[in-house]
Amino acid sequence: MPSTSRLPTASPSATDAGALGLDDARLSLLETAARAPSGHNAQPWRVTLRDARHWTLDIAPDRRLPAVDPEDREAVISLGAFLETLETAAPALGLAVREVEVAPGPEVRLSVVDGPRADDPAGLEAIWARRTRRRGLRPDPLPDDVVADLLDDMPDVRFIGRGTHEADGLAEAAAEGARHQTARDDAQEELSHWIRWRRSEEARRPTGLTPESMEMPAPLRWLAHAVFTPATVLSSGFRKQGTALATRQAQEGAGWFVVFTPDASAPALIDAGQRYQRLGLRGVRHGIGLHPMSQMLEEPAVRDRVAALLKAPRDTVQMVLRTGYARPAAPPPGPRLPVPAFVRRAE
Ligand SMILES: Cc1cc2nc3c(=O)[nH]c(=O)nc-3n(C[C@H](O)[C@H](O)[C@H](O)COP(=O)(O)O)c2cc1C
Repeated sequence: MPSTSRLPTASPSATDAGALGLDDARLSLLETAARAPSGHNAQPWRVTLRDARHWTLDIAPDRRLPAVDPEDREAVISLGAFLETLETAAPALGLAVREVEVAPGPEVRLSVVDGPRADDPAGLEAIWARRTRRRGLRPDPLPDDVVADLLDDMPDVRFIGRGTHEADGLAEAAAEGARHQTARDDAQEELSHWIRWRRSEEARRPTGLTPESMEMPAPLRWLAHAVFTPATVLSSGFRKQGTALATRQAQEGAGWFVVFTPDASAPALIDAGQRYQRLGLRGVRHGIGLHPMSQMLEEPAVRDRVAALLKAPRDTVQMVLRTGYARPAAPPPGPRLPVPAFVRRAE
């Protein structure tokens, strides 16, 4: 895990980064915030610098997922995760995020001011160590005090332990969500654009999913690197495997966290993304992983069933996260856009 002084350079292109007019601390802050999770790793955040200290975050039009997220619900949640990561990383870099305001658009306006440098870089380390954990979440129960620590001061997040009626219902919904979604050509087509089967493609377009970040086991991973193409994602075999994998995964782990909001407004969704990322970063400290299984919320019929199961209005269930103690070996970090690719100066 990098300490503050060993953080990777802010951008592969010093010239591009220099053109943004930001100091090293702010460039590192942006690079660190980009470690936030996002649906399909599309990294939908765009940062406009009104000046070096006053920034606006919104959704990059070319990094939306219209087939599975037509209303940008998940894109706004991802923006919330990015914001949480900014706020968490800032103190270790001698910065502070202030005057956060969600405006129509939706956009998030904020100030990044100089602040006291925090000695303890634990927050920063957790950001760089966190990964979505899809494979090998263990069934061992999460102790009550650990759950209490994870959910401390975190309203509207519920833990649903394995073996309960609701946990079984969520596992069924995960399988059903996968079945519905893999049958949709538009969703598979979209997914095919966000998988980087070749390392050369990952380097050229550092967004999306890779065989490593999807935690494909070794022989399949090699095959995938060598011969899979976007057309593979549309094949009936790939769709069948996708459903089978989600069905199997949904049976693993210690239970589920569910993130609720009072409504589906942009500020509520931003807050949901912040709580999701806060939970993920706290989980790192305990060796506990999170695996969002969002297909069940992306498929309207399944979403209704999930809401009924949880006895909650449908527009209030925002993230369903499978959880459990994770294997010590985390997958390698997924690709991320360099800072100049998602940050621009205001005209
Ligand atoms: C709103 C949202 C929805 C997500 N849904 C899923 C999902 O359904 N299945 C999954 O495996 N990962 C899901 N993820 C995790 C992303 O794929 C992951 O964050 C991204 O690939 C980056 O990898 P990382 O989290 O390991 O940094 C979701 C993340 C977000 C923010």
